[in-house]
Amino acid sequence: MTAGLIRGILCSENHPSPLTVKGWVRTRRISKNCAFLEINDGSCLSNLQCVVDRDTDAWLAIEEADTGAAVSVTGTVQPSLGKGQKWEMLASMLEILGKAAPETYPLQKKRHSDEFLRGIAHLRPRTNKYGSVFRVRSEAAFAIHDFFRAKGFYYVHTPIITGSDCEGAGEMFRVTTLDPFVPASGQGKTIADDFFGKDAKLTVSGQLEAEALATGLGRVYTFGPTFRAENSNTPRHAAEFWMVEPEMCFADLHDDIELGEALIRNVTGHVLNHCQEELGLFDRFMSPGLLDRLQSIFSREFDKISYADAIEILRKSGQKFQYEAEYGSDLQTEHERFLAEEYFKNPVAVYDYPKDIKAFYMRMNADNKTVAAVDILVPGIGELIGGSQREERLDYLKRRISELGQDPDDYGWYLDLRRYGTVPHSGFGMGFERLVMMLTGISNIRDVLPFPRTPGSLEF
Ligand code: 4AD
Ligand code: MG
Repeated sequence: MTAGLIRGILCSENHPSPLTVKGWVRTRRISKNCAFLEINDGSCLSNLQCVVDRDTDAWLAIEEADTGAAVSVTGTVQPSLGKGQKWEMLASMLEILGKAAPETYPLQKKRHSDEFLRGIAHLRPRTNKYGSVFRVRSEAAFAIHDFFRAKGFYYVHTPIITGSDCEGAGEMFRVTTLDPFVPASGQGKTIADDFFGKDAKLTVSGQLEAEALATGLGRVYTFGPTFRAENSNTPRHAAEFWMVEPEMCFADLHDDIELGEALIRNVTGHVLNHCQEELGLFDRFMSPGLLDRLQSIFSREFDKISYADAIEILRKSGQKFQYEAEYGSDLQTEHERFLAEEYFKNPVAVYDYPKDIKAFYMRMNADNKTVAAVDILVPGIGELIGGSQREERLDYLKRRISELGQDPDDYGWYLDLRRYGTVPHSGFGMGFERLVMMLTGISNIRDVLPFPRTPGSLEF
């Protein structure tokens, strides 16, 4: 007996007989002489309709094939007589692999609120919406690896436990084996007695280590979990998220922007091609116009504009913002979204930011006021990519570290990269969840992470 995935069965023209499928019952309708089971095995959005006749052995188990039950169905695939599907299975055997008591199984109804489903994050992958989100997520990850591989980038793994604060924003989780409920001094201990003998944190970015790897491998990228203890309860911040961080040598800010744009457009194109069913679902029910928006992102060149010009546009827009746009302060989400959604109606790369609102490692421009930084803003999200050309000049970098009140000696290994064979190099970080939000039209980051971690919430 051959076992098959529903995805393969539905797009194939020839089916061995008998054939077995294993999955979960989505719905069951019982009439007098036959029953219809809609089976989903997660391989695709579509269900396989299984017809169970009263005079077959399969009928014996029909009462236990409740919504949510795991089943194995064996039978013959035949052209469907009903509307909405090309193939159906005429069942000869039905085995219950795992029951789901109808009195308690939470996913009885067709539609539940996002809030309710967040409370049962362990069961929501079984719904059409979340199954589709996580399939798109997988396809997008694949497309990212594919993109970089084709461009000669090597995939590197940077540490999750780190001793350095890349962004200098101080929003890091501490890693320790000391008793958290007794102050170290009360335990008669100092940081020297902790596991690493020094202050250890969860990484906020793999960039600094990626820079080291890039100076050996030329072009690298990381794609891994990233942690930020920023207490911002917004729909686009998570405490644990995944970041994609390319770093390339012999490349300036212009090359960096080009790479970021190509990445976003390529991945969008891949998902448009490979996730048609899923995107169709989002476009119909959750985010009308999604397909047109993605098609536009894929086919149209991104706009590019300096930070100074962006501030001008915002100030002249006549738009009432909660925070006024002012030269010298960071763009707020409302500003970013206005630029991408209303003004350009297109992704836009904003570059050359005042040095005081950006990190220490960004390359100083000739004006000595701005740095070669870029943020790529996209409709519906705001900032999707943040990156820069890196300061490769040892004296400039040391001066910048001192200016920020830090000791250049603490950056020994990072400065070595400038002491020995330094080269112009650039990179960026792209928030993977924000990308998945853009691709699916889902507006809350909690709904594109399988098990979201946000302030005050660690349920699973
Ligand atoms: O702009 P950020 O802070 O840049 C860096 O960390 C650089 N070291 C990256 C680099 O140049 N290699 O973060 C990069 C991206 C943001 O644009 C955003 O998409 C995402 O990471 N991001 C978050 N996503 C979800 N939740 C959070 N709390 C995020 N913080 C940043
Ligand atoms: Mg940023």
